[in-house]
Amino acid sequence: MTMLADRVQFFTESVIREMTRLANQYGAVNLGQGMPDFDPPPELISAACAALRDGYNQYAITWGNPVLRKAIAEKARRFNGIECDPDENITVCCGATECMMAAMLSLINPGDEVVIFQPFYENYGPDALLSGAKPVWVTLHPPDWSLDFDELRKAFSKRTKAIIVNTPNNPTGKVFTRKELELIAELCREFNAFALTDEIYEYIIYSDTPHFSIATLPGMAERTVTISGMSKTFSVTGWRLGYCIAPPAVTQGIRKVHDFLTVGAPHPLQVAGTAALALPQSYYEKLREDYRRRRDILLTYLRDAGFEFHQPDGAYYVMTDVARLGGTDDVDFVKNLVKSIGVAGVPGSSFYSPKELGKTKVRFMWAKRDETLHEAGQRLLKLSRA
Ligand SMILES: Cc1ncc(COP(=O)(O)O)c(C=O)c1O
Repeated sequence: MTMLADRVQFFTESVIREMTRLANQYGAVNLGQGMPDFDPPPELISAACAALRDGYNQYAITWGNPVLRKAIAEKARRFNGIECDPDENITVCCGATECMMAAMLSLINPGDEVVIFQPFYENYGPDALLSGAKPVWVTLHPPDWSLDFDELRKAFSKRTKAIIVNTPNNPTGKVFTRKELELIAELCREFNAFALTDEIYEYIIYSDTPHFSIATLPGMAERTVTISGMSKTFSVTGWRLGYCIAPPAVTQGIRKVHDFLTVGAPHPLQVAGTAALALPQSYYEKLREDYRRRRDILLTYLRDAGFEFHQPDGAYYVMTDVARLGGTDDVDFVKNLVKSIGVAGVPGSSFYSPKELGKTKVRFMWAKRDETLHEAGQRLLKLSRA
């Protein structure tokens, strides 16, 4: 007899974090887990220290410090083109992670279907299971991760409650086109479904096409939960600050779930988050240029080492194919890479259901200092000499 509830038995512990532990054990350069090895902007550190000294050490209002919510509403208007009211539409949570979970727990009844593109960000599988949703997978096709509209249409039915859209995308680096988002929106309207968008990489786009939020399309504001956060834009993954923008009735549900899950995100860091949102436009331009440079460093090494991939347009991940390097089992390939080459990635099967679809794939990320990427790259080149 097992003591555990059924709901935690259908998914395994995060493979990404397992690879991080293995990387630490073998002194490997960790290009697995999506976390920077450089500091956030100094203004944020000063703002966080000041907030601790200035007495923001007790709970904030559950759904978020009012000054931060006002700053988020302004940012949403300016950057995303989303009109929203800090009191009616915005909830600050512990990262985009909690936002997605709270949104799903607020909207999904057991058995409702949720359309999820794959390869998918690892969390969406457990999010679906914990909320009782039945995931309906729609595959993005390599090499360029294209979307087949007929397949997408077939995935929708009267049981569809929501679709999860992550753009720019982890793990593929795909940036959904406006046309793709318009077709997704059309299906949402036709089938009376919600769009749950994960826009955490909204500032990390390499082309000149600006980020586009599906909530701005006709009829979508009332059926979209727009999720983003501070982790990636400001290199503060440990601060656990995210937010959802949702219609008032959905916001009420999200706030109830959030209150009983975590009460609130860390108050002093919420105050510092307001300082983050006040950074000038030049900050975002530099962020993009820095990530473009890091991408180009890593991709050059990967190409030279024999990995095959489509060049990502956004976020900081590349999903590679390792068949040409002899990889037939992604988990073995990555473990071997950690132990004998000294670089960690993430096995492709963690992004697919069924897992076999990712058997020859490995994801790498480049939120690292240039010297870290060069070190990893030099090690990876050993593969081409093997
Ligand atoms: C697509 C995506 N969403 C959400 C997260 C986590 O965001 P947060 O740190 O805000 O919980 C990640 C982190 O890797 C991610 O890649």
